[in-house]
Amino acid sequence: MKVCVVGTGYVGLVSGVCFSDIGHQVVCVDNDQLKIDKLRRAEATIYEPGLEELLQKNIKQNQLSFSKELSASIKDAEIVVIAVGTPANEDGSANLKYIEAVAKEIGQHLTSYKVIVTKSTVPVGTGQKVKGWIKEQCGEIPFDVASNPEFLREGSAIHDTMHMERAVLGVETEKAAQYLKNLHAPFNTHLIVTDIETAEMSKYAANAFLATKISFINEVANLCEKLDADVTKVAETMGFDPRIGAAFLGAGIGYGGSCFPKDTQAFIQMGIEAGYNLKIVPEVEKVNFEQRKRLVDKIELAFSDSLKGKHIAVLGLAFKPNTDDMRAAPAIDIIPMLLEKGAKVKAYDPVAMDRAMKIMPYVDTAESWQEAVKEANAVVILTDWKEFKEIDLDVLKSKVTDPILIDGRNVFDPVEMREKGFYYDSVGRKK
Ligand code: UGA
Repeated sequence: MKVCVVGTGYVGLVSGVCFSDIGHQVVCVDNDQLKIDKLRRAEATIYEPGLEELLQKNIKQNQLSFSKELSASIKDAEIVVIAVGTPANEDGSANLKYIEAVAKEIGQHLTSYKVIVTKSTVPVGTGQKVKGWIKEQCGEIPFDVASNPEFLREGSAIHDTMHMERAVLGVETEKAAQYLKNLHAPFNTHLIVTDIETAEMSKYAANAFLATKISFINEVANLCEKLDADVTKVAETMGFDPRIGAAFLGAGIGYGGSCFPKDTQAFIQMGIEAGYNLKIVPEVEKVNFEQRKRLVDKIELAFSDSLKGKHIAVLGLAFKPNTDDMRAAPAIDIIPMLLEKGAKVKAYDPVAMDRAMKIMPYVDTAESWQEAVKEANAVVILTDWKEFKEIDLDVLKSKVTDPILIDGRNVFDPVEMREKGFYYDSVGRKK
């Protein structure tokens, strides 16, 4: 099929590249000329394993192109995918200004029937607004709108798209359903065909549920600490029950990223506006933030409560491994708390240093974990990068001043840490 994707952020770029790789003819549009120039040279604009290879391959095979011109790019497209950002308003609700601008522009340049699909995460009811914005511009030219939210994760976005467990197709007509079925046919995935509002709701419900799982296990972890139980074994036991599932039961310092924090807030706001106040999700958020503070408490406890003048090596800044994304990363909350308490922080992340330093330019940085931990009074793990899991603990011990390791991601084995002579504290496990 001929597909035009508008917006080359995470969702748009990965979707466009994957659509082209499974055989569709794709043009990706963005109003940022620098981004377009880079992408035309097959250089990835985001850090995502496997992306650059697929860019190179599909550009070379003429399956994929990039343009700044929306009008020319949608001309021959059968499907136009809207994948622009929906930043948060001050009250947490999703701001639709970019969606509106794109919808209106599509309407202005519509010359023949197309299915216009919203892939961005948008509040329930947005599909109907998009329809209105297009209609007011294009008059009698026929079109359908649809909702096809995205469930990919950063860091494994290509794999998640190529092996999607399901796709939800929110449509109003049989014709639009057929177009979207054809678009997804090569993925050989489970298709759920429904109305637009239900598809829009599915995305928020899925993300809010995953966030709830994380906060739930974090609360269990906090109770485990009080009662001398081990949350990793509790989670393992729970996870074998298929009604619960093993995924997203990793206790730690709470979720971050561009999705869960923003989507849970928008979900709460959607409830307020619709006249139903959600009760569980606001608590999920509260637990999530408190989890950051609990880690700082653990670091303080290691020093009998005073962090003044202590040299803390922070390993990991990105909100999770395999990404350079710093949006709502726990590090952004935790590092300022440490500095406020008088600690001196030296931070290192394998890929997120540049982005992190734009947000926290005041933080002292290191080029490697070895440099960060040199003469540290304590080492703190905030992201579970593979590089940190593979740290030689004897080497680490020989470099630090005090063998204190506070692990926000349960990377190390508490028994081994004790045997090696570390003061080791983690989340929901015996000290
Ligand atoms: C999340 C969802 O997993 C995707 O399905 C969804 O499409 C995406 O949001 C989105 O809405 O665009 P993502 O934010 O990329 O994906 O990252 P996740 O892998 O879900 O991790 C989110 C956060 O939860 C991370 O900070 C991670 O460290 C944390 N987490 C995850 C835990 O603390 N414990 C776990 O067991 C799992």
